Amino acid sequence: MNESPGINESPAGESPGAGETPGTSETPGVDERHPVAVSVNGQTYRREVEARLTLGDFIRDELGLTGTHIGCEHGVCGACTVLFNGAAVRSCLLLAVQADGAELETVESLASADGGLNPLQQAFQESHALQCGFCTPGMLLTATALLRENPRPTRAEAREAISGNLCRCTGYAPIITAIVQTGQGG
Ligand code: FES
Ligand code: FES
Repeated sequence: MNESPGINESPAGESPGAGETPGTSETPGVDERHPVAVSVNGQTYRREVEARLTLGDFIRDELGLTGTHIGCEHGVCGACTVLFNGAAVRSCLLLAVQADGAELETVESLASADGGLNPLQQAFQESHALQCGFCTPGMLLTATALLRENPRPTRAEAREAISGNLCRCTGYAPIITAIVQTGQGG
């Protein structure tokens, strides 16, 4: 008996087998692992990762640097911000493979080896610029990028810089104060 053409055919002309789910290990390439070498806080890491692994999950789960927080996973909250070749980026929106050869800085890079806070962190502490602390790593790295580019920001410039970082706790004013005070030498 003749079958009706196309009823169970994929666009490529192959019918998926019974029980197959798109995107499983039977999909060519999905589970392939790719070598990635990155410098994070001055230390080189080499790993083999799936192409779909986000940079944020790579930093937390593969490297164990859990100071980088993952909130929305959609590029909205800024909690996952890290520095990528000096620029503040959202690590939930990048893939780990895109960071191959890059220099990354995470919040763990800010304090000294003995745990001493850097001036920005001290200003956050003294200005009560954190409460639950979930947004804080992203705020600190966004502010670090600003202060490197503009060492004495005004309140308006600091507000603009952190406008993509959400905080549910502080009302933002103490964070802006901490950034401006750091630029003025404390
Ligand atoms: Fe990346 Fe919210 S977790 S922007
Ligand atoms: Fe809680 Fe900012 S301190 S979200």
